[in-house]
Amino acid sequence: MAEFNLPPNSRVKEGKTFRAPAGAKNIKVFKVYRYDPDSGENPRLDSYEIDLDNCGPMVLDALLKIKNEIDSTLTLRRSCREGICGSCSMNIDGLNTLACLKPIEDIKGDATVYPLPHMPVVKDLVPDLTVPYAQYASIEPWMQADTPAPGKGERLQSPEERAKLDGLWECILCFCCQTSCPSYWWNGDRYLGPAILLQASRWINDSRDEATGTRLDNLEDPFKLYRCHTIMNCTNTCPKGLNPAKAIADIKQKMIKRVL
Ligand code: SF4
Ligand code: SF4
Ligand code: FES
Repeated sequence: MAEFNLPPNSRVKEGKTFRAPAGAKNIKVFKVYRYDPDSGENPRLDSYEIDLDNCGPMVLDALLKIKNEIDSTLTLRRSCREGICGSCSMNIDGLNTLACLKPIEDIKGDATVYPLPHMPVVKDLVPDLTVPYAQYASIEPWMQADTPAPGKGERLQSPEERAKLDGLWECILCFCCQTSCPSYWWNGDRYLGPAILLQASRWINDSRDEATGTRLDNLEDPFKLYRCHTIMNCTNTCPKGLNPAKAIADIKQKMIKRVL
């Protein structure tokens, strides 16, 4: 497996430059992290001159233009192109965000594009998400209830109960928050991180779920939950405008309440 990608920094050497077509008048340079662990070569930053007059408005449009028209060896994940699937998360212009929601015009000067920081790199802009997905599975992200559903009906919620899930259900598991968290950088093998804890909070706050006590028991651990030091990087970077730090604080409060 690849080496860990450090946060964007100047230690990655410049690689190849791909020039814009002759006559292009509206050129923007995209400096893109390139790394193939199987090659045995160090990571590099390749520069692609893109003619913005022939490119869509988002960073993902530029990356797909590079892949489709300039350099098919560039590797990235994407699917929905509208901020729903969470697969195009990467570090753009120094911030973790979704490439499909990041307007090119918001970037001053050259655009730098790195994979999500502090994760092993599979290739180029694709991080290895094996660990966070295993952590996600560990919180058992499905409804658990022994009481049978009433009749043939659904398990109903009041509007107030349903409102408690707002700010939680919208998470698309892009891991922008997870990989912006210094506590996760240094203790990612044991600290669950903001994305997973927000997901845990989504089930803890679901009035239909009957496993709240077990869920809290499973988080009662010096590392899984309490490595959050309220640094707030997670909330500041979430491209869906969610607040993982608040969700974590909510879990901590519930922990306190049940011992009082
Ligand atoms: S608030 Fe907690 S989870 Fe969010 S970045 Fe800070 S330490 Fe990480
Ligand atoms: S909380 Fe936001 S940044 Fe974190 S995984 Fe969910 S959508 Fe992505
Ligand atoms: S491609 Fe789905 S969130 Fe960007």
